[in-house]
Amino acid sequence: MLNNRKDLLGLKDLQADEIKRILNHAETMKYILSQKNKKTPHLQGKSIITLFYENSTRTRLSFELAAKYMSASAANISASGSSVSKGETLIDTGKTIDRMGTDIIIIRHPMSGAPHLLAKNVEASVINAGDGMNEHPTQALLDMLTIKEHKGKIEGLRVAIIGDITHSRVVRSNIWGLTKLGAEVCVAGPATLIPPEIEKTGVKVFNSVQEALLDADVVMGLRIQMERQKSGLFPTVREYARFFGIDDKRLKFAKEDVLLLHPGPVNRGVELFSEVIDGDKSLINEQVTNGVAVRMALLYLFSRKGGNIENIH
Ligand code: NCD
Repeated sequence: MLNNRKDLLGLKDLQADEIKRILNHAETMKYILSQKNKKTPHLQGKSIITLFYENSTRTRLSFELAAKYMSASAANISASGSSVSKGETLIDTGKTIDRMGTDIIIIRHPMSGAPHLLAKNVEASVINAGDGMNEHPTQALLDMLTIKEHKGKIEGLRVAIIGDITHSRVVRSNIWGLTKLGAEVCVAGPATLIPPEIEKTGVKVFNSVQEALLDADVVMGLRIQMERQKSGLFPTVREYARFFGIDDKRLKFAKEDVLLLHPGPVNRGVELFSEVIDGDKSLINEQVTNGVAVRMALLYLFSRKGGNIENIH
């Protein structure tokens, strides 16, 4: 159960049981999404705000559609079009949103820990849609849903995550989530993009993609995050692609029935080549659909104040 949580700030805090229950609910939501009429009354009378201090396509849109499919009132505030650009603090903005009767605030922020600060200062439930280099729990949940759907389980799978491990909040949430559910996580990337002591989180670190990919059940590419880069962490994008980019030849090191994931947006020809992005192992488009299902499940669970899912059928 979701232990009466007000907020979803990261997968580090969740127990395996809670993650499994979210995934079960997301499977039900996926079924609803596949119907001709996607509208459900579950969130009627609830109001949901997306508060985004960073750019986003998939995450913001999927939260907004999830809210609308479930009949909630949904609105968005982005930093550039609000009083944030006039210098208002996060807490003041949060309290203003809270006082309008908002039930759930979904926040994306460039600073790690911003959702935690907001959560302490508002009555609304807070869902973390990505905070700096810390966590992106809803992305990892949709990744896990995609894996579970195709492999029937997560326990015992070998998942290789390749790319910019240091700057990725996606990888951090996936490490917490996947290892809690019993998967083995391997990471690889340029040594300058692997944080020191990452092994302490229970993952295996490899210097070459080939080694990390060997016998993998799932391969996840991560975006090279130019906007977060302090210069000089790898020589050139071309060189990165040559040594770490995943193409057909490299993907062959993984198991025959490997699944290929990427959170998007993809730099084509850098972390993944078009032949694998558009190839038959790729589930990148399905991840997008699953993103809506997972967010529907989370809005449902967290709109019940306390995230108590005991009474949900
Ligand atoms: C990720 C993010 O913003 O952290 N994207 C996403 O939410 N789909 C990954 C990224 O931007 O590289």
